[in-house]
Amino acid sequence: MREFHLSLAFPLLLLLLLHVCSSWAASDSVYDAFLKCLQTNTNQSDQVSNIVYSQTNASYSIVLRNYIRNARFNTSSTSKPLLIVTPTDESHIGAVVICAKSIGTQLKIRSGGHDYEGISYVSDVPFIILDMFNFKSVSVDVDDESVWVQSGATVGELYYRIWEKSKVHAFPAGICPTVGIGGHISGGGYGNLLRNFGLAVDYVLDAQIVDVNGKLLDRKSMGEDLFWAIKGGGGANQNSTTTDIVYKWQQVAPSIDNALFMRMLLQPISSKVTKKTKTVRASIITEYLGTSDQLVALLDKEFPELGLKKEDCMEMSWIDSVLWWANFDNGTSPNAMLDRELDSASFLRRKSDYVQKPISKDGLEWIFKKLIEQGKPGFVFNPYGGKMNEVAASETPFPHRKGICTKFSTRLVKVKTAVDPDNFFRNEQSIPTLPSCERLTSHMHSQFLHSTYSTLFLNGFPCVLYQMRLCIPNEGVECTSLPLIVVLTVVRVVAVSAS
Ligand SMILES: Cc1cc2nc3c(=O)[nH]c(=O)nc-3n(C[C@H](O)[C@H](O)[C@H](O)COP(=O)(O)OP(=O)(O)OC[C@H]3O[C@@H](n4cnc5c(N)ncnc54)[C@H](O)[C@@H]3O)c2cc1C
Ligand SMILES: *[C@@H]1O[C@H](CO)[C@@H](O)[C@H](O)[C@H]1NC(C)=O
Ligand SMILES: *[C@@H]1O[C@H](CO)[C@@H](O)[C@H](O)[C@H]1NC(C)=O
Ligand SMILES: *[C@@H]1O[C@H](CO)[C@@H](O)[C@H](O)[C@H]1NC(C)=O
Ligand SMILES: *[C@@H]1O[C@H](CO)[C@@H](O)[C@H](O)[C@H]1NC(C)=O
Ligand SMILES: *[C@@H]1O[C@H](CO)[C@@H](O)[C@H](O)[C@H]1NC(C)=O
Repeated sequence: MREFHLSLAFPLLLLLLLHVCSSWAASDSVYDAFLKCLQTNTNQSDQVSNIVYSQTNASYSIVLRNYIRNARFNTSSTSKPLLIVTPTDESHIGAVVICAKSIGTQLKIRSGGHDYEGISYVSDVPFIILDMFNFKSVSVDVDDESVWVQSGATVGELYYRIWEKSKVHAFPAGICPTVGIGGHISGGGYGNLLRNFGLAVDYVLDAQIVDVNGKLLDRKSMGEDLFWAIKGGGGANQNSTTTDIVYKWQQVAPSIDNALFMRMLLQPISSKVTKKTKTVRASIITEYLGTSDQLVALLDKEFPELGLKKEDCMEMSWIDSVLWWANFDNGTSPNAMLDRELDSASFLRRKSDYVQKPISKDGLEWIFKKLIEQGKPGFVFNPYGGKMNEVAASETPFPHRKGICTKFSTRLVKVKTAVDPDNFFRNEQSIPTLPSCERLTSHMHSQFLHSTYSTLFLNGFPCVLYQMRLCIPNEGVECTSLPLIVVLTVVRVVAVSAS
């Protein structure tokens, strides 16, 4: 079966819909009660006042804004947390959970803050943010080919630390370096290595979480059901027309050699041929694990319409490919990925869905027309398949390997109900406690179609993720076969007659 991940970006489009939020006056009594509770539930009672920010604290606003990653949620009318708690020690997390529960306030957990709808730091009921940014250690163990990464680390920091220790290991996760591990893993975590290696969740060896009772558990003590649930329950110049190329891409990209990842981007652009009219450009951006010669030969055979030549290819190491995808200039040091870019955001709106069978040529032309009408949107198609389909769907709760509605939704709800019966860990997109698989699936689809919520992922864990141990691929070892050379190419095709 062919599956594509398709995401749409409609920058600025939904600004007007989001006026519902209001600010909550933080009463001193909430601060006092919370702090007192923290003091009794931790061993360093003199230190906990350093980790709690009330709305009157001079640093409150900057701490809140540091991990706001979407300017749509950086307005005075966006709801604000009563308190922001920034633990520095693992023992603080359990105390935060216990105390939020005891004062009866909704807890939101934030790692990188990249949630498309700001779910980790916006709410329509009074709430407290548990901000995980201090937990950013990444310990790479090259000998046993694994890494312990804390949930507040970014994927860029993970890549950097792996590269620092080894030039022959890599990790298959997302493209944007400032995305947080905590939220990323809960959505599966896909990136350019996905066809050869699968998802980030496929590499989780162990995890430490804090449950609803404030207890720190690891894989052994949480049991295999909950461990399973946290792994993704919770991202030219040819003569053929753009339509032909895009149509062909759908046949080829998900089934071609696993070493080749071909992302396709559709955008409206101004026509160079007919002034003042718009047309659509398809860009096929590929990452191949091998040499340029191998890639040219492969595409010559499987996708000759692209007309790929060796000059179109750039050979580089994995870490340089990571920097390239993240739009850093050629020659940028991997150090750049350690920059968290605090308090900076642009406006964006994204939705994702899955395409189960190829879109017809008529369908594609309709999409081109809509793209031109909309102004500045873009469509990104990520081909799944490859390793993604080899991992049995039941291995992790990530629902989009082969078909959506299978028994694991029920399993996820069962685990959730067992470990968090009162639904303490909840948000606007979190795992519900009872519905059948069908209701769950139709709920997800109706969210995509009608609500402001963005992904088909169920979002968030039934616990706080503290850290995870991940397997890091290397050439020839079991969780792997990482080639030392990555080849990148970009091929653009402009629609001849889209309008
Ligand atoms: C610009 C951009 C690029 C992206 N690129 C990719 C990509 O290439 N591949 C991909 O797969 N995805 C991608 N994403 C999606 C991204 O992986 C998800 O939005 C992810 O959830 C963000 O994680 P975060 O920690 O930064 O976000 P947050 O907003 O901090 O968290 C997201 C969700 O996870 C929950 N959560 C966070 N930390 C924890 C924790 N420690 N314990 C329990 N729950 C937690 C939050 O409560 C929230 O519900 C991208 C998103 C953006 C905005
Ligand atoms: C405090 O420390 C003691 C001894 O180290 C330990 O037994 C206890 O569980 C700790 N309490 C908390 C709340 O962390
Ligand atoms: C703000 O909160 C931090 C953390 O709790 C604390 O260290 C600091 O003293 C507070 N500052 C002010 C001005 O209240
Ligand atoms: C593309 O079309 C032009 C003009 O129609 C023609 O001259 C050229 O040979 C064609 N190129 C290919 C690769 O078919
Ligand atoms: C980057 O720069 C180096 C040296 O200037 C050059 O050899 C290489 O081809 C460039 N790579 C890309 C991807 O542009
Ligand atoms: C939020 O807005 C303020 C101005 O009100 C700006 O200084 C800051 O950079 C913005 N931060 C983000 C994350 O958008």
